[in-house]
Amino acid sequence: MVNLTRDGDLAVITLDRPEALNALSFAIIRDIGAAIDEAGTWDIRALIFTGAGGKAFCAGADIKELMGRPLMAERAGAELGQRTFARLDGFKVPSLAAINGYAFGGGLELAMACTFRVASPKAKMGLPEIKLGLIPGYGGTQRLPRLVGEARALEMVLTGRTVGADEALAMGLVNRLAEGEVLDLAKAFAAEFTGFGLPALSFARDAVQRALGTPLAEGLRIEADLSTLAYRTQDAAEGLAAFVEKRKPTFEDR
Ligand code: CAA
Repeated sequence: MVNLTRDGDLAVITLDRPEALNALSFAIIRDIGAAIDEAGTWDIRALIFTGAGGKAFCAGADIKELMGRPLMAERAGAELGQRTFARLDGFKVPSLAAINGYAFGGGLELAMACTFRVASPKAKMGLPEIKLGLIPGYGGTQRLPRLVGEARALEMVLTGRTVGADEALAMGLVNRLAEGEVLDLAKAFAAEFTGFGLPALSFARDAVQRALGTPLAEGLRIEADLSTLAYRTQDAAEGLAAFVEKRKPTFEDR
């Protein structure tokens, strides 16, 4: 139900349960965790998520599995989803969600846990949990306001409203819209950064990701530390020399 494939220096995880619009059963969430772990052992420079079947990226948690559970199982389910998606925050390379159709509830929460989101013009996104008498449980209440601001996040969470691709782009929920295949756009987007050195990419991502949870003075100290560390890399010596020598740099992740 989850396929992990290799495409050059990219890993692609495909949610493959099209008959249920790739809904996240707990088994699929565990498979996603295993696929992330496996991809982490590969020599890759970006990780892409997409959905099989052409209609959906992922329609959210498997609603049928959510019924009639004891309280502590409900809590454990939320923590499993949160923990699995949170692995992407610290994953060794950036991740992209190629949103090829519906991305609702836990599906949008998976996409929001990725570093970047690109979408097909027919994609539809939302956090409809309120319509089920629930609230988002796999990170949506925390990641959505960080991406789009409090007022827009509250609007989506409290009304459960579906947002189309154009609106998602305008509000910053997705980075780009595809003109052709959304997976091709995700790969082209990845190619814009996979040529840079992994140390600088990782320092930069770490600094930006810590910005929102950190007071400015502390964040600036983190940036000073990480930017100083970047100067100490061989990639920085190469990048600076290449500029002065008017040639293309060759980064070696050192
Ligand atoms: N869980 C389980 N099955 C689902 C599902 C889900 N989230 N979403 C769709 N399916 C199943 C449907 O039951 C249907 O299966 P059957 O043919 O066996 O009945 C099949 O997928 C196709 O779905 P539809 O016939 O409904 O397709 P549609 O094109 O008419 O509608 C849709 C598409 C608007 C996405 C609609 O399926 C829908 O509203 N799905 C539920 C979306 C949702 O509420 N997601 C949030 C889940 S809760 C959550 O995610 C909590 C959290 O924070 C972790």
